[in-house]
Amino acid sequence: MRIYLAPIKGITDCIYRNTFGRYFKGVDLAVAPFISSVQSRKLKAAYLQDLLPDRNNNLALIPQILSNDPDDFLFIAGRIFELGWGEVNWNLGCPTPMVANKHRGSGLLPDFDRIRNILDRVMAVYPNQISIKTRLGRKSPSELEKLLPILNQYPLRKIIIHPRLGVQMYSGVTDLHAFRRCLFLTKHKLVYNGDIIDQYSFDDLRIRLPEIDTWMIGRGLLANPFLAAGIMGQGNPPLKRGMDRDILYNFHCDLFEQYQACLCGPSHLLGRMKGIWGYLAAIFENSAKIRKKINKIKRIEHYTETVKMFFETEPLVYTIPINKTHS
Ligand SMILES: Cc1cc2nc3c(=O)[nH]c(=O)nc-3n(C[C@H](O)[C@H](O)[C@H](O)COP(=O)(O)O)c2cc1C
Repeated sequence: MRIYLAPIKGITDCIYRNTFGRYFKGVDLAVAPFISSVQSRKLKAAYLQDLLPDRNNNLALIPQILSNDPDDFLFIAGRIFELGWGEVNWNLGCPTPMVANKHRGSGLLPDFDRIRNILDRVMAVYPNQISIKTRLGRKSPSELEKLLPILNQYPLRKIIIHPRLGVQMYSGVTDLHAFRRCLFLTKHKLVYNGDIIDQYSFDDLRIRLPEIDTWMIGRGLLANPFLAAGIMGQGNPPLKRGMDRDILYNFHCDLFEQYQACLCGPSHLLGRMKGIWGYLAAIFENSAKIRKKINKIKRIEHYTETVKMFFETEPLVYTIPINKTHS
């Protein structure tokens, strides 16, 4: 069994991924947040910096591209493969209206001709080196059901499916029946992604999807970085709570110091740390209070004092309700 860290743009950059890999067990690999092909020919140096192998030596990586144009896709994929990575993931699932309305991410899902055209061009150059991360459709699960037989014609590495529709964004429930139908429609390896937030939700999915051996977790891992180790039986059961607290605090301080060294000014630094707390607060019993207090902080000294106090005094939880993982 394998667990992947999902891409969460704005959070899981190379600093986060690499640091995560040093402190926590159980995650085999991360998919990087997408590089958008719109800026391809003037590709921002920062995008490729995030993918440099020496900045990603603690966690195996699959870089990701968001594109609806074969030439742009090939241009970026070429740069990524030059860095030495063995696989590129194509984002066909992003639900954000700014992306989907421009016919990218989940917005491209109903356009089978365009997808076919892109795959014809890309597969001619990179067979067996591309995987796809997608949703059930933009507006209807019938979109992916119709697309999967088309995708069977191409040598893809794997397909990661988050069983929601694009229009759902992150609300409503995941559709496991539709995910199960996908199992019968594809010849490719499927990876399940969505709403794994604790051992119980994982056990339930494992029973319902016995065919799946690779699981991708995003918000659940950001909220509880011990989750994958627990699932893989690589924790120290029963978890020694004092030790967990120290690991978590050291992980946080390590992130903070690295971001302090590379981000310009206190507001960028605080913004980044607040983003992380949007998820991480859920591991504390009083998560709402903690999130509220952190969001109000305006000075770095106040931030470090407050966080230290939280780690010293606030009780941790290990079962996190799904609504608490949302920032
Ligand atoms: C803030 C945010 C940013 C995300 N960025 C990306 C991204 O860059 N690429 C991608 O494929 N998915 C992205 N996702 C989707 C996640 O990778 C994942 O599919 C989704 O959160 C469902 O999994 P989870 O329930 O385990 O979090 C993002 C999700 C969120 C909430």
